[in-house]
Amino acid sequence: MAEIVIVQNADAAGELVADAILRLVARTPDAVLGLATGSTPLSSYQALAAKVAAQRVDLGSVRGFALDEYVGIPVEHPESYRSVINREVVQPLGMNPELVHVPNGALDGIQTAGDEYEAAILAAGGIDLQILGIGRTGHVGFNEPGSSLSSLTRTKTLTEQTRIDNARFFDSIDEVPVHCITQGLGTILRARHLVLLAFGEAKADAIAAAVEGPVTASQPGSVIQLHPHATVIVDEAAASKLANIDYYRHVWNTRFDWEEL
Ligand code: GLP
Repeated sequence: MAEIVIVQNADAAGELVADAILRLVARTPDAVLGLATGSTPLSSYQALAAKVAAQRVDLGSVRGFALDEYVGIPVEHPESYRSVINREVVQPLGMNPELVHVPNGALDGIQTAGDEYEAAILAAGGIDLQILGIGRTGHVGFNEPGSSLSSLTRTKTLTEQTRIDNARFFDSIDEVPVHCITQGLGTILRARHLVLLAFGEAKADAIAAAVEGPVTASQPGSVIQLHPHATVIVDEAAASKLANIDYYRHVWNTRFDWEEL
Protein backbone atom coordinates (compact mmCIF):
# COMPACT_ATOMS: atom_id res chain seq x y z
CA MET A 1 0.00 0.00 0.00
CA ALA A 2 1.16 3.50 -0.72
CA GLU A 3 1.67 5.65 2.34
CA ILE A 4 -1.12 8.22 2.49
CA VAL A 5 -0.30 11.46 4.28
CA ILE A 6 -3.16 13.87 4.89
CA VAL A 7 -2.00 17.42 5.49
CA GLN A 8 -3.65 20.75 6.26
CA ASN A 9 -2.80 22.40 2.97
CA ALA A 10 -0.39 22.57 0.04
CA ASP A 11 2.19 24.49 2.08
CA ALA A 12 2.37 21.71 4.67
CA ALA A 13 2.85 19.20 1.86
CA GLY A 14 5.58 21.38 0.41
CA GLU A 15 7.48 21.28 3.70
CA LEU A 16 7.38 17.46 3.77
CA VAL A 17 8.52 17.11 0.17
CA ALA A 18 11.28 19.70 0.56
CA ASP A 19 12.61 17.92 3.66
CA ALA A 20 12.56 14.57 1.85
CA ILE A 21 14.53 16.05 -1.04
CA LEU A 22 17.04 17.69 1.29
CA ARG A 23 17.63 14.36 3.07
CA LEU A 24 18.12 12.68 -0.30
CA VAL A 25 20.57 15.33 -1.49
CA ALA A 26 22.51 15.18 1.80
CA ARG A 27 23.03 11.45 1.15
CA THR A 28 23.50 11.81 -2.61
CA PRO A 29 24.58 15.28 -3.79
CA ASP A 30 24.06 14.34 -7.44
CA ALA A 31 20.65 12.74 -6.82
CA VAL A 32 18.24 12.48 -9.74
CA LEU A 33 14.87 14.17 -9.30
CA GLY A 34 11.79 13.53 -11.45
CA LEU A 35 10.11 16.89 -11.92
CA ALA A 36 6.41 17.49 -12.47
CA THR A 37 4.90 20.69 -13.80
CA GLY A 38 1.41 22.04 -13.05
CA SER A 39 0.24 24.03 -10.05
CA THR A 40 0.35 21.13 -7.59
CA PRO A 41 4.12 20.79 -7.02
CA LEU A 42 4.70 24.55 -6.78
CA SER A 43 4.51 24.65 -2.98
CA SER A 44 7.16 21.91 -2.83
CA TYR A 45 9.53 23.82 -5.11
CA GLN A 46 8.91 27.03 -3.15
CA ALA A 47 9.50 25.36 0.22
CA LEU A 48 12.66 23.75 -1.13
CA ALA A 49 13.92 27.07 -2.51
CA ALA A 50 13.39 28.72 0.88
CA LYS A 51 15.20 25.94 2.76
CA VAL A 52 18.04 25.87 0.25
CA ALA A 53 18.57 29.61 0.73
CA ALA A 54 18.25 29.49 4.53
CA GLN A 55 20.52 26.46 4.95
CA ARG A 56 22.90 27.44 2.13
CA VAL A 57 22.51 24.07 0.41
CA ASP A 58 24.06 23.68 -3.02
CA LEU A 59 21.82 21.86 -5.50
CA GLY A 60 24.23 22.52 -8.38
CA SER A 61 25.03 18.83 -8.80
CA VAL A 62 21.44 17.58 -8.59
CA ARG A 63 20.16 16.16 -11.85
CA GLY A 64 16.58 16.36 -13.07
CA PHE A 65 14.21 14.82 -15.58
CA ALA A 66 10.89 16.46 -16.35
CA LEU A 67 7.91 14.18 -16.78
CA ASP A 68 6.60 15.56 -20.01
CA GLU A 69 6.49 18.25 -22.69
CA TYR A 70 4.10 19.52 -25.32
CA VAL A 71 4.83 18.57 -28.90
CA GLY A 72 5.22 21.28 -31.48
CA ILE A 73 5.51 24.44 -29.42
CA PRO A 74 8.84 26.28 -29.49
CA VAL A 75 10.99 25.66 -26.39
CA GLU A 76 11.16 29.46 -25.90
CA HIS A 77 7.36 29.61 -25.56
CA PRO A 78 6.65 30.63 -21.95
CA GLU A 79 4.34 27.64 -21.49
CA SER A 80 6.61 24.99 -22.95
CA TYR A 81 7.47 22.71 -20.04
CA ARG A 82 11.14 23.49 -20.68
CA SER A 83 10.36 27.15 -19.93
CA VAL A 84 8.16 26.25 -16.96
CA ILE A 85 10.81 23.96 -15.46
CA ASN A 86 13.50 26.63 -15.92
CA ARG A 87 11.34 29.33 -14.35
CA GLU A 88 9.77 27.37 -11.49
CA VAL A 89 12.45 24.83 -10.63
CA VAL A 90 15.91 25.35 -12.09
CA GLN A 91 16.30 29.07 -11.36
CA PRO A 92 14.76 29.25 -7.86
CA LEU A 93 16.64 26.15 -6.73
CA GLY A 94 19.96 27.13 -8.26
CA MET A 95 20.17 23.91 -10.28
CA ASN A 96 22.50 23.57 -13.24
CA PRO A 97 20.28 23.83 -16.36
CA GLU A 98 22.61 21.50 -18.23
CA LEU A 99 21.77 18.74 -15.75
CA VAL A 100 18.01 19.16 -16.10
CA HIS A 101 16.42 17.31 -18.98
CA VAL A 102 13.01 17.81 -20.57
CA PRO A 103 11.67 15.52 -23.31
CA ASN A 104 12.32 17.02 -26.73
CA GLY A 105 8.94 18.05 -28.13
CA ALA A 106 10.31 19.41 -31.43
CA LEU A 107 8.48 17.87 -34.39
CA ASP A 108 11.79 17.26 -36.08
CA GLY A 109 13.04 14.03 -34.53
CA ILE A 110 9.92 13.34 -32.48
CA GLN A 111 9.87 9.67 -33.52
CA THR A 112 13.10 8.95 -31.66
CA ALA A 113 12.81 11.50 -28.86
CA GLY A 114 11.13 9.02 -26.47
CA ASP A 115 13.84 6.40 -26.82
CA GLU A 116 16.53 9.05 -26.40
CA TYR A 117 14.92 10.26 -23.20
CA GLU A 118 14.72 6.74 -21.80
CA ALA A 119 18.40 6.23 -22.62
CA ALA A 120 19.30 9.47 -20.83
CA ILE A 121 17.39 8.41 -17.69
CA LEU A 122 19.13 5.02 -17.71
CA ALA A 123 22.53 6.66 -18.25
CA ALA A 124 21.90 8.85 -15.21
CA GLY A 125 21.31 5.73 -13.13
CA GLY A 126 17.54 6.18 -12.89
CA ILE A 127 15.35 8.61 -11.00
CA ASP A 128 15.68 8.66 -7.21
CA LEU A 129 12.57 10.65 -6.31
CA GLN A 130 9.75 11.30 -8.74
CA ILE A 131 7.30 14.08 -7.95
CA LEU A 132 3.87 13.52 -9.47
CA GLY A 133 0.66 15.48 -9.77
CA ILE A 134 -2.57 13.99 -11.06
CA GLY A 135 -5.00 15.37 -13.61
CA ARG A 136 -8.75 15.26 -13.28
CA THR A 137 -8.82 12.51 -15.89
CA GLY A 138 -6.55 10.51 -13.58
CA HIS A 139 -3.51 11.13 -15.76
CA VAL A 140 -0.01 11.22 -14.35
CA GLY A 141 2.59 12.96 -16.48
CA PHE A 142 0.52 13.10 -19.65
CA ASN A 143 -0.43 9.42 -19.52
CA GLU A 144 -4.10 9.73 -20.30
CA PRO A 145 -6.59 6.95 -19.48
CA GLY A 146 -5.81 3.86 -21.52
CA SER A 147 -2.04 4.29 -21.28
CA SER A 148 -0.22 0.99 -20.95
CA LEU A 149 0.90 0.33 -17.40
CA SER A 150 4.34 -0.56 -18.75
CA SER A 151 4.64 2.26 -21.29
CA LEU A 152 7.90 4.15 -21.72
CA THR A 153 8.50 7.73 -22.91
CA ARG A 154 6.54 8.34 -26.10
CA THR A 155 4.16 10.74 -27.79
CA LYS A 156 0.50 10.83 -26.73
CA THR A 157 -2.65 12.65 -27.77
CA LEU A 158 -4.15 14.83 -25.05
CA THR A 159 -7.79 14.39 -24.09
CA GLU A 160 -10.12 17.33 -24.61
CA GLN A 161 -10.55 17.56 -20.81
CA THR A 162 -6.81 17.98 -20.31
CA ARG A 163 -6.62 20.59 -23.07
CA ILE A 164 -9.51 22.48 -21.44
CA ASP A 165 -7.82 22.24 -18.02
CA ASN A 166 -4.52 23.52 -19.42
CA ALA A 167 -6.09 26.27 -21.55
CA ARG A 168 -5.71 28.62 -18.55
CA PHE A 169 -2.00 28.85 -19.33
CA PHE A 170 -2.62 29.91 -22.95
CA ASP A 171 -4.53 32.74 -24.63
CA SER A 172 -7.12 30.30 -25.97
CA ILE A 173 -7.77 26.57 -26.13
CA ASP A 174 -6.79 26.58 -29.79
CA GLU A 175 -3.23 27.29 -28.71
CA VAL A 176 -3.04 24.23 -26.44
CA PRO A 177 -1.09 21.57 -28.31
CA VAL A 178 -2.89 18.39 -29.30
CA HIS A 179 0.10 16.13 -28.73
CA CYS A 180 2.65 15.68 -25.98
CA ILE A 181 5.63 13.53 -25.15
CA THR A 182 5.60 11.97 -21.70
CA GLN A 183 7.46 9.53 -19.52
CA GLY A 184 5.40 6.36 -19.56
CA LEU A 185 3.80 4.64 -16.60
CA GLY A 186 6.55 2.04 -16.86
CA THR A 187 9.16 4.81 -16.74
CA ILE A 188 7.51 6.22 -13.63
CA LEU A 189 7.46 2.78 -12.00
CA ARG A 190 11.24 2.56 -12.39
CA ALA A 191 11.83 5.59 -10.14
CA ARG A 192 12.97 4.57 -6.67
CA HIS A 193 10.44 6.70 -4.76
CA LEU A 194 7.16 8.17 -6.00
CA VAL A 195 5.62 11.19 -4.30
CA LEU A 196 2.13 11.88 -5.63
CA LEU A 197 0.59 15.20 -4.59
CA ALA A 198 -3.01 16.39 -4.91
CA PHE A 199 -4.96 19.27 -3.43
CA GLY A 200 -8.58 20.32 -3.70
CA GLU A 201 -11.90 18.63 -4.22
CA ALA A 202 -11.49 18.45 -7.99
CA LYS A 203 -8.81 15.77 -7.42
CA ALA A 204 -10.80 13.66 -4.91
CA ASP A 205 -12.16 11.17 -7.46
CA ALA A 206 -8.78 10.73 -9.16
CA ILE A 207 -7.08 10.15 -5.79
CA ALA A 208 -9.69 7.63 -4.62
CA ALA A 209 -9.33 5.75 -7.90
CA ALA A 210 -5.53 5.85 -7.76
CA VAL A 211 -5.25 4.70 -4.15
CA GLU A 212 -8.24 2.41 -3.65
CA GLY A 213 -9.58 1.52 -7.08
CA PRO A 214 -8.50 -1.40 -9.20
CA VAL A 215 -5.13 -1.16 -10.93
CA THR A 216 -6.21 -0.26 -14.41
CA ALA A 217 -4.98 1.63 -17.44
CA SER A 218 -8.32 3.46 -17.30
CA GLN A 219 -7.02 5.22 -14.17
CA PRO A 220 -3.32 5.81 -14.86
CA GLY A 221 -2.72 7.04 -11.28
CA SER A 222 -3.56 3.55 -10.00
CA VAL A 223 -0.14 2.44 -11.26
CA ILE A 224 1.26 3.66 -7.93
CA GLN A 225 -0.22 0.53 -6.35
CA LEU A 226 2.43 -1.48 -8.21
CA HIS A 227 5.27 0.55 -6.71
CA PRO A 228 7.05 -0.60 -3.53
CA HIS A 229 7.71 2.94 -2.26
CA ALA A 230 4.95 5.38 -3.09
CA THR A 231 3.88 8.29 -0.91
CA VAL A 232 0.62 10.14 -1.54
CA ILE A 233 0.35 13.57 0.08
CA VAL A 234 -3.11 15.12 -0.05
CA ASP A 235 -5.13 17.79 1.68
CA GLU A 236 -8.48 17.02 3.33
CA ALA A 237 -10.44 17.94 0.19
CA ALA A 238 -8.43 15.67 -2.12
CA ALA A 239 -8.64 12.89 0.52
CA SER A 240 -12.40 13.28 0.98
CA LYS A 241 -13.41 10.28 -1.14
CA LEU A 242 -10.97 7.78 0.39
CA ALA A 243 -12.87 4.97 2.12
CA ASN A 244 -10.05 3.99 4.49
CA ILE A 245 -9.07 7.48 5.53
CA ASP A 246 -9.15 6.72 9.28
CA TYR A 247 -6.67 3.91 8.80
CA TYR A 248 -4.30 6.11 6.79
CA ARG A 249 -4.31 8.72 9.54
CA HIS A 250 -3.68 5.98 12.11
CA VAL A 251 -0.75 4.59 10.12
CA TRP A 252 0.82 8.05 9.81
CA ASN A 253 0.27 8.91 13.47
CA THR A 254 1.80 5.64 14.67
CA ARG A 255 4.76 5.50 12.28
CA PHE A 256 8.13 4.54 13.72
CA ASP A 257 10.64 7.28 14.56
CA TRP A 258 13.00 5.96 11.92
CA GLU A 259 10.41 6.01 9.15
CA GLU A 260 10.88 8.77 6.62
CA LEU A 261 8.68 9.70 3.70
C1 GLP B 1 -0.64 18.53 -16.47
C2 GLP B 1 0.71 17.87 -16.28
C3 GLP B 1 0.68 16.85 -15.16
C4 GLP B 1 -0.01 17.44 -13.95
C5 GLP B 1 -1.43 17.78 -14.29
C6 GLP B 1 -2.18 18.39 -13.12
O1 GLP B 1 -1.44 17.92 -17.42
N1 GLP B 1 1.22 17.26 -17.45
O2 GLP B 1 1.99 16.43 -14.86
O3 GLP B 1 0.04 16.53 -12.89
O4 GLP B 1 -1.44 18.71 -15.34
O5 GLP B 1 -1.98 19.76 -13.07
P1 GLP B 1 -2.22 20.66 -11.80
O6 GLP B 1 -1.18 20.28 -10.82
O7 GLP B 1 -2.03 22.07 -12.28
O8 GLP B 1 -3.59 20.37 -11.33
